[in-house]
Amino acid sequence: MDRNFALEFVRVTEAAALESARWMGRGDEKAADHAAVEAMRKMLNSIQFDGTVVIGEGERDEAPMLYIGEKVGKGGGPILDLALDPLEGTTICARGGNNSLAVIAIAEEGHFLHAPDTYMEKIAVGPQAKGAIDLDASVTENLRNVAKAKKCQIEDVTAIILDRPRHADLISEVRKAGARIWLIGDGDVSAAIATCKKDSGVDILFGTGGAPEGVIAAAALRCMGGDFQGRLVFRTDKERERAKKMGIQDLNRKYSITELASGKVMFCATGVTQGTFLDGVRFFSGGAMTHSVVMRSESGTVRFIEAEHHFDRKPKY
Ligand code: FBP
Repeated sequence: MDRNFALEFVRVTEAAALESARWMGRGDEKAADHAAVEAMRKMLNSIQFDGTVVIGEGERDEAPMLYIGEKVGKGGGPILDLALDPLEGTTICARGGNNSLAVIAIAEEGHFLHAPDTYMEKIAVGPQAKGAIDLDASVTENLRNVAKAKKCQIEDVTAIILDRPRHADLISEVRKAGARIWLIGDGDVSAAIATCKKDSGVDILFGTGGAPEGVIAAAALRCMGGDFQGRLVFRTDKERERAKKMGIQDLNRKYSITELASGKVMFCATGVTQGTFLDGVRFFSGGAMTHSVVMRSESGTVRFIEAEHHFDRKPKY
């Protein structure tokens, strides 16, 4: 994958962030998401490549734009698969909270798990604890192994977990083991990324969230040298049937990070609202500042891009 594509795809997440950031704190999740989707699609279609949305806004019958299977790009370039979320954390953005992002991960054809729009049980850590996690082991065992890998005590370990009733047992086991917990309202992609950032204060992500977000997070952690495992969690028989139709044969399979996102992967994100990893969009008279990251699994380079946009010289945001 041509590394120069990095800048092209950062423009894509910048556009989605600029459009959705206008909706920050305005209490309208749908409008914020729609703005991000439209901007992302428009920008993708200006790039010379043949793209297929593998992880997107949903099935064709429920998402008019950036649906699973949609072809994007101007054509006449490399054939690439996309795992995208134009606005990861719609509620966060609508409430003006922390850590909503515009994200896109890119791989060569066939290298992302075609995950259905269901839930996924996830566990993620940064590079220091790579190899120390196992979805089949108990929460306590995982905490013990992560503490050992990071040469600290369980009491020093902080787990980040989505604040959901379904996580009651998980939370009580983490507490019993003695680790600290950071409960978040939404946004487990940025939470997974936080495990890889030395100064985030987060060591491990536990819990069940969206399966599409799991594939996107795995792509980001491939670039950052972290570790991730996931297992699909189905809420209904209809979801099981859908997964089978999408080619998932073993519904209970535990996926490693490279089974979720393999080969050469690129990941781009732009902050929509203020975050631990990326600053949010800041508007000023006639323009705005964005803060983005682009990374590649091949080189492991994590490149931050701060951009100043002048609206009189580019499309309206
Ligand atoms: P959206 O941007 O689609 O709203 O997702 C936000 C999110 O918090 C994800 O980060 C997470 O994986 C998922 O929702 C959790 O799902 P639920 O809110 O149903 O528990």
